[in-house]
Amino acid sequence: MTLFPGIFRGPLEESILRRAQEKGLVQIRVHDLRSWTHDKHRVVDEPPYGGGAGMVLKPEPVFEAVEALKAGPQSRVLLLTPQGVPFTHSLAAAFSAEHHLVLLCGRYEGFDDRIRSLVDLEVSIGDYILTGGELPALVVLDAVIRLVPGVLGDAASAAQESFAGGLLDFPQFTRPPEYRGLAVPEVLLSGNHEAIRRWRRKEALRRTLTRRPELLTAAVLSEEDRALLKEVAQEVEAEAGGEAPLRLRRGSPR
Ligand code: ADE
Repeated sequence: MTLFPGIFRGPLEESILRRAQEKGLVQIRVHDLRSWTHDKHRVVDEPPYGGGAGMVLKPEPVFEAVEALKAGPQSRVLLLTPQGVPFTHSLAAAFSAEHHLVLLCGRYEGFDDRIRSLVDLEVSIGDYILTGGELPALVVLDAVIRLVPGVLGDAASAAQESFAGGLLDFPQFTRPPEYRGLAVPEVLLSGNHEAIRRWRRKEALRRTLTRRPELLTAAVLSEEDRALLKEVAQEVEAEAGGEAPLRLRRGSPR
């Protein structure tokens, strides 16, 4: 439910989200909040009580919209707002098991707080302020729909498990083996599947340790992982900082 249905057109009509709908794996309907106004000018917002700048979304159209769109007790009503719980992969997985989600796009200047009483969960996609809930709703849709069974092929679903395990992905390479002096790691050309598997796991651990160490506390780690992590930690320390941290680099290409 949005004031700007046009924002959804491109993203929902391309690529995987398009195919998911064509295959009948998901149904997405975009509703214009103004359909639930009753006045000639289709007014959806008013100045705030107590004064101040900006306009506030009125409760009536939103209440009527949610009442019309809810399909019984199995519907979950989500509100996109920077004040919500942080959106994560595990939340996406939980949503992908639901039958019916109603996504309410908030707008930049705010909404009447009574709208919160309609909502099962408020969701934020990150600590920054966007102009409205439309892009966040698309982010949620994308993350949720790719987890719906049948939407991705088998190979891709296996790759998903690596994030479900809580680590960042290992680096990938393709042809040519050397490009502008940048070589593909030898092991990947070796044909030694066990060595490749171990290298990939180790590099996933390295990426996670150097970029998002806080993820390691929640990650599911095997005995082998712990041994690899120890090696990685020693290498990172020995390499004076290890893999360059995520910062803006000037000049030389990666
Ligand atoms: N609306 C505006 N900014 C948002 C954010 N970061 N997450 C969810 N909804 C929003």
